[in-house]
Amino acid sequence: MSRQFCMNDRSGDGAVPAGRRPEGLDVGAAGRNRWRAAPTIAVGTLLGGLIGALMGVLLGLLLGILMGPASALAAQAARPAPAATEAAADPAALRRGEQVYSRCVACHAIEANRTGPQHCGLFGRSAGTAPGYDAYSPAMRDAKIVWDDRSLDRFLQAPTEFLPGTTMGYAGVKDARERAELIAWLRVATRAGKACSVAR
Ligand code: HEC
Repeated sequence: MSRQFCMNDRSGDGAVPAGRRPEGLDVGAAGRNRWRAAPTIAVGTLLGGLIGALMGVLLGLLLGILMGPASALAAQAARPAPAATEAAADPAALRRGEQVYSRCVACHAIEANRTGPQHCGLFGRSAGTAPGYDAYSPAMRDAKIVWDDRSLDRFLQAPTEFLPGTTMGYAGVKDARERAELIAWLRVATRAGKACSVAR
């Protein structure tokens, strides 16, 4: 099922410069080794991750002191996109994001239209325009939404509230962090021509 979506990107074919792969994650290699870091950039990744984590902790502490825990949480919730960006820099977060996607595979696949539309090529695509999927609700088809970190965060939190009339029968991913990790993983796993190919 969704595990097969990367078969065409195994490779070292030079199409993607190593440095551009998100944190050295070999999303393309199928199977267990998909997340293996390339040795040459592993150290940089590690350092970057450490520094990032440290800054995150410091910032969190500062916010906590300045605003009190509740308002710090609210501030985080109000800025979903940066959260997804942070998750993208963390291999463990991406793995958790992939696990969150297991809630979607009853209806979705990356590379095939099922009950729900395929997700390959999702980012930057207008809502309701996945090739070959003809079961969109009028609400989705007519929505003037382009899928990105922010719109996905809002849609996936509460689909029917964000888009009344949608036929996506799913309550939503309520946990902000799970959503951020899911979206960060989706951003990598749905890159058309790199991590997946769009079904026509
Ligand atoms: C019960 C089935 C079901 C589940 C579970 C489900 N979806 Fe959907 N999804 C749909 C359907 C059906 C649509 C089309 C909705 C419409 O046209 O209004 C859709 C649409 C979408 C879209 C819009 C795509 C486009 O091409 O515009 C996104 C993004 C999406 N789903 C993501 C997810 C994610 C991520 C999950 C898991 C957290 C998920 N869905 C879980 C059925 C489902």
